[in-house]
This record gives sequence, structure tokens and C-alpha cells, in this order.
Amino acid sequence: MSAVVKTKRLTVPRFRARKGKTPIVALTAYTAPMARLLDPHVDLLLVGDSLGQVVHGMESTVPVPLELMIYHGQAVMRGSDTALVVVDLPFGSYEESREQAFRSAARVMKETGCAAVKLEGGAVMADTIRFLAERGVPVMAHIGLMPQQQNLKGYKVAGRSAEEWPSAMADGRAIEQAGAFAIVLEGMVPGLADQITSKLSIPTIGIGASANCDGQILVTDDLLGLIEAPPSFVRRYADLGADISAAAAAYALDVQARRFPAPEHTYGVRPVTAA
Ligand code: KIV
Repeated sequence: MSAVVKTKRLTVPRFRARKGKTPIVALTAYTAPMARLLDPHVDLLLVGDSLGQVVHGMESTVPVPLELMIYHGQAVMRGSDTALVVVDLPFGSYEESREQAFRSAARVMKETGCAAVKLEGGAVMADTIRFLAERGVPVMAHIGLMPQQQNLKGYKVAGRSAEEWPSAMADGRAIEQAGAFAIVLEGMVPGLADQITSKLSIPTIGIGASANCDGQILVTDDLLGLIEAPPSFVRRYADLGADISAAAAAYALDVQARRFPAPEHTYGVRPVTAA
């Protein structure tokens, strides 16, 4: 009997080989039921630290602890079968040293079973990315608008001034040479994102960047209409926020009017009746 466990999941090498081919479809997921719904339609499920705001009502991604990422990473792995699952390393879990980054990434991979981690930063993180990649941790990098740095830089679109382009290009190259298998370009003017996409040999995944990236990612709750004011580049594919609100209002009316299912239908179990 072979001891090799075969996976149906998209692997990191197969993901990397999608450079310049059919566009990569990626969405965020934070829970098992949502992962189950999205899994058949996507190549990549990202357990993004955006869960701090989207699920936990935090003001930014900065307070998100590593334990929370592991907890949601486990749920998404349980709910999915075929997508490559990548888990974000949260702020404070990797910037101090390459050793700290390795300890955090190893915990995430061992405790969730995910195949890769994502971290924010360009050339400044190259040393860390190389250290991880050489030790078996596939890394997806993230440049442009970096939400973990919002206290320093705000939520500013990258590349509006042509002066920023050379250093963004240098970030991309440093990340690629360090061994990252892919790179997220967030909040970046299309011309710059196109230049980085055309010059790098690893897939670029855009969010608010350019339609010509090798793939696209969105925060799922944004496209489902669950977030009141999503970023302007997000197209809403559903209006679940309004649907949930209408369902809750209809339920409240039923409860108040005592219009409720007969007890014998509850849970499909017949109640015990007195003889
Ligand atoms: O945290 C997140 O959801 C992300 C995506 C927006 C790329 O990093």
C-alpha cells in the first residue's frame, strides 16, 4: 500500500504554472459552510485577515491574533476539497525576524493543514520569504495597498504618481527572486499592475488593480452584498444583506402573530404525545 496521500486540491506548483494561462479565480473564506459553497467555483480560498473586520467587527486587520487565523483556517479546510487554501499571517506574527515568521507559518500549516501562507511587504520581506521558501513554506506575497500598514500609510492606491513605479517594480522582483509562488496586487493603478504582471514569472492576483492580472480576488462578503459600503471597484453579484434583513423581519412578524410551524414538523421528529 502506498503511503502517499493523494490530494484533490490544487497544489502550489500547479497554481504557479497558471501564470499567463486561464485567469485564476480566488475569493476569501472564513467559515466551513461558506468554503463548501465557494469551493467548486474557485482555484484559491484565502483565509484573509480581513476576517478581523468582516467577521469580528474590528476596525482594521491590525488586532487580529494568529490563533484566530488558525481557528478560521481549520474551518475553511474542513469545508473545502479542491481549492488551494492560503492563510494570512496577521500583523505582528512575522515582521520581527525570519525565525518568528517561520514559527508562525509552521503553526498555521501544521494546525490547519493549509498549503501556504500570505504576508504583506515587498523588498523588505524578501529575506523572510527566502528563509520560509527554502524551509518548505510556500509564500504568497502582497504589495500595493497593504491593510496591515494602514496606521502608517492609510488606505492609499499605489502607483498614482509615476515616481512610485520603480520601487513597486523592484518590490515585485525582490519577492519573485526570494521564491514567493504568487503575489497579490491590491489597490494599484492598472498600468503599474500590468507592468508587474508582464515582467514577473509568478502569477499576480489583483484586487482593485487590473483586469490583466493573472487572477482576481475579492472579499466574498463584498460581492455578496453583506458589507454596507464595499470598495468602489467591487461588483455586487447578490444582495444577501437585504435578503437577510427581510427574512429576519418576516420571521419577527410570524413570531408576533403566533404563525409558527406545528410542533410535529420540528426537526422532522414526532413529539411524544400523552396517551
Ligand atoms: O485579508 C484579505 O482578505 C486579503 C485580500 C483582500 C487579498 O488580503
